[in-house]
Amino acid sequence: MDARTTDPRQVVAAIDTLMLEAMKRPTAVHSRPTVMALLREARKEAATAPPGQMFLPRTAAASQIQAAMAARERALEPLPPFEPFSNSDPGWTSVVFALLERLIRGRAAFIDATSAADFRIPLPTDARLALFADWGTGQPAAARVAAQIDATNPTHLIHLGDIYYAGEEHEVPDRFLDRLPSNPTIQARFALNANHEMYSGGHGYFTQVLPAFGQPASYFCLENEHWRLIGLDTAYDDKRYHGRQMEWLRGVVSTGDQRNILLTHHQPFSIYERRDVDGDVMDNVADLLDAGKIHAWFWGHEHKHIIYLRHRNVLGRCIGHGAIPYSPPSRAFPPGNKIPVQFVNRRTSDGAHCVNGFAALALDGPRMVVRYIDEDGFVPFEENLDFEIATQAAAAGR
Ligand SMILES: [Fe+2]
Repeated sequence: MDARTTDPRQVVAAIDTLMLEAMKRPTAVHSRPTVMALLREARKEAATAPPGQMFLPRTAAASQIQAAMAARERALEPLPPFEPFSNSDPGWTSVVFALLERLIRGRAAFIDATSAADFRIPLPTDARLALFADWGTGQPAAARVAAQIDATNPTHLIHLGDIYYAGEEHEVPDRFLDRLPSNPTIQARFALNANHEMYSGGHGYFTQVLPAFGQPASYFCLENEHWRLIGLDTAYDDKRYHGRQMEWLRGVVSTGDQRNILLTHHQPFSIYERRDVDGDVMDNVADLLDAGKIHAWFWGHEHKHIIYLRHRNVLGRCIGHGAIPYSPPSRAFPPGNKIPVQFVNRRTSDGAHCVNGFAALALDGPRMVVRYIDEDGFVPFEENLDFEIATQAAAAGR
């Protein structure tokens, strides 16, 4: 927890901001009086706390406010100031509200499999899939990425999650559904659940996104005789696999000799962490990785574009650079982190802001070519995932 959530004076100042913002919240707020009552109670306690000491709330209201503020801080990465969706964007205040509302309203109902035969969807052998992540901002960069997706004439869209700020029901159409790529070639659309959708309890995701897509659940398997693309939900329980997902996954991969590709919102590992990220996302499938059951793994969440060499017996691809503004990733990795990296996209549009982009997967029977396409149409990296041979454009990584 940082000073903003532990210094009682800063907590009071933050609550004052929240109270002002609460008056401007859209009509989708379900429990404004309850939220305001929580804020008033928490403010009263923080205002009487000893200055200069760590604020340790005694009441549930203040604890909830502090937890929501801390969760908001964890949700953000350091970014340049005064940009939409950057750290200083006041819009992030809504994450705190969404978390408070979630405490009151609870989570949306989870849809679980009853057997490994559930949530299986046929995939054409010549499908063209666009994988994009962290895209639900509704900002111009997202529109540029959508235009590049449309230019590939995709047959399938798969969003790897994050509709901002908190996946609320008024945000789902505004920042996601109404702005998706719309090429008539698109036959089917899918979306993973993610942490921002769950900040508001996942109601927008489960009751709007899934019905709009005709998607059976927050986890699914697209498959043909050569490939399986298996989307998993790592957000309903943060960075964990809720429900019977692991049992279902083992049932899915236990038959056939297709190459399996996992899709998750959260990363199983990162070169920018001091160690493998948390545990469950990676550890719960470690046996499948060790057994060679998982060929590749695409994820988002981390707002970067990174191609890893084989690590933990899987080809990891971070494509969290879908729309959020981000600075060029450091060339220095945390000491002790030995994850082998092949490519980090550091292209910028102006020397300071990295370009956004997505992955275009083209299937041709057993072949799969993946082109990583930036918002300006540049292809910094292309690979044959079936042969594990990758080529990097000469201008990439500058
Ligand atoms: Fe995320």
